[in-house]
Amino acid sequence: MTIILGIESTAHTFGIGIVKDGEVIANVKDSYTTEKGGIIPQEAAKHHEKVSDEIYLKALEKAKISEKEIDAVSFSQGPGLSPCLLAGLRFTKKIAGKLNVPVVLVNHCIAHLEIGRVTGANDPVLLYCSGANTQIIAYEFGKYRIFGETLDLGIGNFIDTFARYAGLGFPGGPKIAELAEKSQNYIELPYSIKGMDVAFSGLLTKLRQMIESGKYKIEDLSFSLQETAFAMLVEAAERALAHTGKRELLLGGGVACNSRLQEMCRIMCEERGCKMFCPEKSLLVDNAGMIAFLGEIMFNSGIYEKEIDKLDINPRERTDDVKVSWRKE
Ligand code: ATP
Ligand code: FE2
Repeated sequence: MTIILGIESTAHTFGIGIVKDGEVIANVKDSYTTEKGGIIPQEAAKHHEKVSDEIYLKALEKAKISEKEIDAVSFSQGPGLSPCLLAGLRFTKKIAGKLNVPVVLVNHCIAHLEIGRVTGANDPVLLYCSGANTQIIAYEFGKYRIFGETLDLGIGNFIDTFARYAGLGFPGGPKIAELAEKSQNYIELPYSIKGMDVAFSGLLTKLRQMIESGKYKIEDLSFSLQETAFAMLVEAAERALAHTGKRELLLGGGVACNSRLQEMCRIMCEERGCKMFCPEKSLLVDNAGMIAFLGEIMFNSGIYEKEIDKLDINPRERTDDVKVSWRKE
């Protein structure tokens, strides 16, 4: 039996997750929020420091375990914002030091992919759509590789910025989704995809001009935004499926909560004879359950650090920098 404690602090969210033998038995978090949505890394880091002890106790309580049962602490080392990561690292060292257990260093993006195993996905292409990240990741030739990504803004930041221009609050994603459901009137918008890479800034500029012109209904713009941007993501994901020959598509990141995006992915997968997997919301958004989950897999493969004083963050870690010795195939 293994019990792993996971710590997530790469951006807005501070979370503690606990996994016992492949099952997420606690996944507690608290997110730093602002009225306008822009993240101030130092402020987010202060938030993480403030809530960490309380979240830790809540997670232990939820899992109904004593801290003495923890075998290792798994830390989301990057990619992310340095001040936020440093707050998480300090807490990691504090807990691992107190319990005298090793630390597993986990890549945040790969954790979004590996958590797909709880839904039954075994070797998927991950369409990772969060605030800051938009990437298509899959395992090939011994590494997790980025097959496509955004060349400018992340899909979530793009939608949130549009919502801000339209005078809606943060986060904009759920509000835009609601407005989009009230329209069927598609207005042609710039569609930008190169190979498996996408770009949203041209689309954002156009939408801003359309809002400012006062000639369009926000419902129609929201609907058209979703249809256009999501079609780009689905097209890129389909190319990655074709290129890799994989038969599973997994969704990850907060924007994957969007039911229209899920529907478009499902249709594409059905047409290709592939399977689509979408974890429940608490495991889609940034969370520490997935960090503990991958941490356990790595720990059981002997990948962990015992000298915790030397550990550091890795804010710019690329997915394909990670040596994936825990996967056998
Ligand atoms: P990361 O560091 O991984 O980029 P993050 O904190 O920005 O993380 P998540 O928690 O994964 O991201 O997701 C937040 C984003 O999800 C926000 O941009 C929000 O608008 C978007 N979002 C949430 N629900 C929906 C929805 N139903 N439709 C579209 N977007 C949504
Ligand atoms: Fe994330």
